Amino acid sequence: MHDLEPIGSDTVLRFGRFELHPQRRLLLDGDRPLPIGARALDILLVLVESAGKIVSKEAIISQVWPKTFVEEINLRVHISALRRVLGVCPQSRDYITNVRQRGYSFVAHVEQVSQAASETALAPSLPGRPVRIEGRDKLIDELTRRLHSRRHITLIGPAGVGKTTVALRVAQQQLGHFTDGVRFADLATLGEPALLAATLASEMGIAVPEGVDAQAHLLATLANRHMLVLMDNCEHLVDACAALSEALLQAAPGLRILATSREALRTAEEYVQPLAPLESPPLGSHLRLAAALRYPAVKLFMRRARARQADFRLLESEVPRVAELCWRLDGLPLAIELAAAQLDVQSLEGILAQLENHSYLSLLGRRSTPARHASLLASLEWSYALLSAEERRCLQGLACCDAYFTVADVQQALCGLKISDSARCAALARLVGLSLIGLRRDGGQVYYHMLGCTRAFAREKAREAALASTWDTPALA
Ligand SMILES: Nc1ncnc2c1ncn2[C@@H]1O[C@H](COP(=O)(O)OP(=O)(O)O)[C@@H](O)[C@H]1O
Ligand SMILES: [Mg+2]
Repeated sequence: MHDLEPIGSDTVLRFGRFELHPQRRLLLDGDRPLPIGARALDILLVLVESAGKIVSKEAIISQVWPKTFVEEINLRVHISALRRVLGVCPQSRDYITNVRQRGYSFVAHVEQVSQAASETALAPSLPGRPVRIEGRDKLIDELTRRLHSRRHITLIGPAGVGKTTVALRVAQQQLGHFTDGVRFADLATLGEPALLAATLASEMGIAVPEGVDAQAHLLATLANRHMLVLMDNCEHLVDACAALSEALLQAAPGLRILATSREALRTAEEYVQPLAPLESPPLGSHLRLAAALRYPAVKLFMRRARARQADFRLLESEVPRVAELCWRLDGLPLAIELAAAQLDVQSLEGILAQLENHSYLSLLGRRSTPARHASLLASLEWSYALLSAEERRCLQGLACCDAYFTVADVQQALCGLKISDSARCAALARLVGLSLIGLRRDGGQVYYHMLGCTRAFAREKAREAALASTWDTPALA
C-alpha cells in the first residue's frame, strides 16, 4: 500500500463506505456523522495515516496522549469502541487488526482526496443527504438484504413519502459491497425518453464517444461491472426505464438496480416495494410527549421544529395538537416538514386551523419551485400533468369521497361523469398506479385512500375547472 500524502487542510480519507475528515474531526458513514470520541478519532487518524503498516502500541499512545502516562488497557478500550463504530453494519469488514506483540494495523485500502475532489467525486456516486431517518430502520435493513437476492427493486409511493431518502440510505449501506461501487442518477428533469440511456451514462460519469449509440455503449461499459445503480424519479419515464433496466440486467450479470418511482416499472425481475407514510398516533389519543415521540411522524415534526427554532419546546398539553397535526398530514414526511417550516410564521394552532379550514394547499409550498422535492404542490402538479383529461376528472370527482372509500363509493362519486365502466376502471387503476390514490386490503375488502394533500389539490383543480367552464359558458342575453 502506498504511503499517504501529509494531511492538508482539505484532505479527506476514504475507506469502504466511510469518510474521515481530519480537519473537521469528523467520521462519516455515507453522509451520516458517526458518534466517536475524541481519543478514538485520534487513534483512527494515526492508524489510517499509516494504513497497511503495523503501528506499535507505544507509538499510538505517544501520539494520542503525548503528555500523559497511559496504560495499554486505555488503548484497547478505545480500539474496541472504534471497531464498534466501524462495524455498525453486520456485513462490514474488520478494518483494524491486532498483530500479536507488535501493535495494530489499519488493513483497508485508503483513498486520499481533497475536500473539493471529495465533493465532486460524490456527484456521480451518491448525493449527500445529511438527514436522520425516522421509522425506516427495519425497511432499510430488509431492502439492503433483499438487494442480495433481487436484482431490481423499485420503491413506489406518493410524492414526499420518502422514496429518495430510503433509497439513498440503502445505497449508502451498499457502498462497500459492490466492487465497482454505487451510482446515482436523478431522472427528474429528463423529459425525453429517447435520451434516457445518454442521460444515465452522463449521470454515471460514462462518456459516450461521438457517433456511438448511447445504450449500446452503456451496456458494453457496464457488462462486467459489479455495481448498484440507483435510478431516482422514474415515474414520468416508466416504459423507457423498464426497457433500459431489462437490457442492463441482461447485459450485466453483476448489476443491481434500485429505482424510485410513483409507479412500478413492471419488469420481469422487479420487486416492488410500496412505501407507506410514517406512523402517527391515532386521532384522539391523548398521549404524553414521551409516548407520542415513539411515533416516527411526531419525532420528525419535533426534529424539524427544533432545527428551525433551537428553543422550540412543547407543553404536555400541546402534544395532542402535534399528534393531530401529524395525523391530518397523513404522516407524509414532506408535508410534516413543510408544516414545521410554518412555525417560523405562525403557531401550532394556526397551522392546524389552516388544515381544518381547507387551506391545506397553502402549506404545500410553491407551485413552481424548481426543487420538486421541496414542494408538495409542485410534485402534485407534476403527477397531474401525466394524467389524461378523463383521469383528471376522475381524480377531481374522487376528492369528495372520505379519506377511505370503496369501489361502490367510486361508482357513486363518478356517476356524473359520462364515462364507460371500463374507462372508469382504467382511470382508477392509473391513479393508483401513479400513487395519487392508495389501495389497502382489509380482509376481503378493498379500500382506496386519498392523502389529504392530494384531496386538497384535486378539490382545487375541480374548483378551477368549474370556474373555467363558467367562463366558457356564453353569457345569457
Ligand atoms: N423517514 C424519514 N425521516 C426523516 N425525514 C424524512 C423521512 N422520509 C422523508 N423525509 C424527508 O421528507 C422529504 C421528502 O422525502 P423524499 O425522500 O424526497 O420523498 P420522495 O422521494 O418520496 O418524494 C425530504 O426532505 C426528506 O428529507
Ligand atoms: Mg424522490
